[in-house]
Amino acid sequence: MHIHLLGTGAGGGFPQWNCNCKNCMGLRKGTIKSSARTQSSITVSGNGVDWVLFNASPDIRAQLEAFPPLQPARKVRDTGICAIILCDAQIDHSTGLIILREHDQPWDVYCTAAVHEDLTSGYPLFNILGHFRGVNWHEVKTDQKPFTIPKADNLVFTAVPLSSEAPPYSPHRHNTVPGDNVGFKVEDTSTGKNLFYAPGLGEVEPQVLDYMANADVILVDGTVWTNDEMSREGISDKLASEMGHLDQSSEKGMLSLIKPLEKPRKILIHINNTNPILDEDSPERKELDAAGIEVSYDGMDIII
Ligand code: MLT
Ligand code: MN
Ligand code: ZN
Repeated sequence: MHIHLLGTGAGGGFPQWNCNCKNCMGLRKGTIKSSARTQSSITVSGNGVDWVLFNASPDIRAQLEAFPPLQPARKVRDTGICAIILCDAQIDHSTGLIILREHDQPWDVYCTAAVHEDLTSGYPLFNILGHFRGVNWHEVKTDQKPFTIPKADNLVFTAVPLSSEAPPYSPHRHNTVPGDNVGFKVEDTSTGKNLFYAPGLGEVEPQVLDYMANADVILVDGTVWTNDEMSREGISDKLASEMGHLDQSSEKGMLSLIKPLEKPRKILIHINNTNPILDEDSPERKELDAAGIEVSYDGMDIII
């Protein structure tokens, strides 16, 4: 399986258009060692020709231009993307669907009933797309039964419900239902290897930790280093936990959970622009380096 990281930033990307935080300002001025990141999306392929897109970010146009396998190559209008899977209904994970409205047939979109509800009510993207070629919705169940996608040769997908938050415009904001947020195990049946992908999670429940422990690669929520990072920067009084993201550095944070895992290659993704790990010279980044935990970057390729 070829995994290509299209966008490794969180909502807003890095640098964020209106942000003058230490990192955003440092990147613009060239005073920190780091690189720009577009908003959260990856793509996977088991045959090198047909690609499943995970999450459609507002930056998708630039992301497609940066990755030739997804570009038109077979007829006058086409794409290497054979289907789209959504982990949640957040703006950074779904707004790219609008950019993809010129597709020559309905998009095959795989998401849960909860995400479908959000995207036909509070944020009615699917309704809007109905005025173009439309959406061919495939319901992703939260029962952890594996499923396959036509053309996505050799790949088997399992949705794993995650404890997180529904988006602000969701009918179930603060009253989350299973399926508001899911991670995915993606197994390649030809190599027997598997990826666990969860760009946003508020808690690592025991069954989620099992998926991580048994994966060959994990790409997991790297949004913030500390829960109060946004208020420390004077940006917002919202805690990361209120947005459904688990911090990395606290006693029960992401690092304490994944450090002991022996099998997987560990990579953080969906990194918010305030996170000190974006600065390659920061003590926080050195701590990750020492623990063998990687920080993803746009364009990163992983083959398993
Ligand atoms: C999140 O991950 O919490 C959201 O994407 C934030 C946002 O984009 O507004
Ligand atoms: Mn996000
Ligand atoms: Zn910033």
